[in-house]
Amino acid sequence: MTRVTGSFATLGLGLVHTFQGTDTAVRRICNGRGWPPLDPKARLCHNRPVANERPVLGIDFGTTNTAAAWCDAQGKIHLVPVGEKSYTLPSVVWFGPGEKVLVGALAREQLLDDPHRTVVAPKRFIGRRFKSEFVTRNKDRYPYEIIEDEQGLCAAAIEGSPVSFTDVAFHVIRRILELANATAGFEFEDAVLTVPAHFSYGQRRGVRTAAEMAGLEVRAMVNEPTAAALYYAKHKDAGGRVLVFDLGGGTFDATLLDVSRRVATVLSTGGDPYLGGRDFDSTIVTHLLNVVTFEQGRKLDPSKVVMQRLLFAAEAAKIRLTKEEVAHIKVPLVASDGTGFVDLEYDLTRAELEEISEGLIARAVGIVGDVLAAAGCSDLDVGEVIFVGGQTRMPAIRDRLTRRFKHDPKKHVHPELGVAIGAAILGRTLNLPRGPALVDVVPMPIGVMAPTLGTKEVIGRNAVVPSTHTVTIETRPPDGQPMNLAVYEAADAAAVERELLGMLTVPADWMAAHAGDLTLEMRIGFDFDLTCAIVSPHGSKQLPLQPV
Ligand SMILES: Nc1ncnc2c1ncn2[C@@H]1O[C@H](COP(=O)(O)OP(=O)(O)OP(=O)(O)O)[C@@H](O)[C@H]1O
Ligand SMILES: [Mg+2]
Repeated sequence: MTRVTGSFATLGLGLVHTFQGTDTAVRRICNGRGWPPLDPKARLCHNRPVANERPVLGIDFGTTNTAAAWCDAQGKIHLVPVGEKSYTLPSVVWFGPGEKVLVGALAREQLLDDPHRTVVAPKRFIGRRFKSEFVTRNKDRYPYEIIEDEQGLCAAAIEGSPVSFTDVAFHVIRRILELANATAGFEFEDAVLTVPAHFSYGQRRGVRTAAEMAGLEVRAMVNEPTAAALYYAKHKDAGGRVLVFDLGGGTFDATLLDVSRRVATVLSTGGDPYLGGRDFDSTIVTHLLNVVTFEQGRKLDPSKVVMQRLLFAAEAAKIRLTKEEVAHIKVPLVASDGTGFVDLEYDLTRAELEEISEGLIARAVGIVGDVLAAAGCSDLDVGEVIFVGGQTRMPAIRDRLTRRFKHDPKKHVHPELGVAIGAAILGRTLNLPRGPALVDVVPMPIGVMAPTLGTKEVIGRNAVVPSTHTVTIETRPPDGQPMNLAVYEAADAAAVERELLGMLTVPADWMAAHAGDLTLEMRIGFDFDLTCAIVSPHGSKQLPLQPV
């Protein structure tokens, strides 16, 4: 699925960076005019006061790897070490018998011995409805089974019981938090989380809940390319249009920003939730299966364990081909030639890899075109290209974009760690007296539905966060009945398929006591949380969003 969200300079994702030695202070600004004005009647505008100087942990929960960083009081950035010379924690969780759980590299090892209990790529399924087209299409591609939980969301089946992907994410986030606490020598209480720009409200809620379960207060959620741009802007003085090309393990985002005099404004963003390094690995495996079956005339046992061994070998070869022209692939005892099991051996060349991955690269490049078009820009308007995500290390991807935009890729932003560092920079600004740095945008419209009301959009696509929005409720249900409003999110205002986020209920007795016009207020916070209230000329009432 491809989606382009956002466009036009009026989106106003503005940041100003002022440098004091190594320290970066980022002050809020929206197109140079300060925050977007909030509705003067808004009763939901409660930004959490800055309580103290507690460092905020920036966490990049990735499809393949999770990384974290924080900025100390002097503005120095600290990365959280995960192992010797490593700053990335594999986003893999193994659920053993009893309460036993392994996270990270140890869990990843279990993929071969115990694939049914080993959950990889939880980010691809977090916060998604089981009956969605996405889950139906992709649920059988993983070593573990995916089933429906009581809330209608998809969950991993461990010994037949559902384990929500939020729980899986919780284990990953708790582990990186433990490592961060051990490194820092104090306990983090606050976090900034990053998510793909195209993530829906439900997916964002899933990641936020996982961090809250780990005991963190989520101070903000920021789109991954925007976080990378924050990090980039720290190194950048001159102005220009910057394209962030973010191809990680499981997701792709393209974002066009304007960085001028250290003010960065998001112009347009788009992405594909099912395009990442893992898809390149699967393409190599499909190629190997074809070669072995049709060219070598051998049979392959397609069990989940064999598939996993092939995927590991494919990924290792893909990474080797960044530097080498040929990678020798050898997977012992997975094919049969009539006399018994034999090794699979194959020399994969870089040219061959580029040929078989052309379709995936073309998809990403196509989205870049959509994003530029949505902002009314041409290739010539792009001053620089920033590569984020491990898969952008592939030479064919860099060459393609370098040729197209005629710029050498900028090396300021570390492909795998830049997003976590950007989150850490934002986290520090939340504690500065001038207040938070960044306004992000809502990727999809949010509205309400009721039988008497029809459908009403409340928060438009690309609305900045935090902000408060209101709609007038013109019709009431018959006397003595509560008013039930379904809150939905849709890919666009006219979308037929809408994601139900929850229900709001205005009690009948409150309605009876409040004559006159009713207004619904909806505030989307820095952490992408929704708070809602109903307002009459005589008073207001906060409405909790009840899960469906
Ligand atoms: N040298 C390389 N060449 C090609 N791909 C690489 C290379 N090094 C790492 N990768 C791929 O990068 C991916 C991991 O990148 P990264 O850690 O940025 O992803 P992630 O943050 O977990 O995913 P996402 O941001 O999509 O949620 C893996 O698919 C890995 O195979
Ligand atoms: Mg990533």
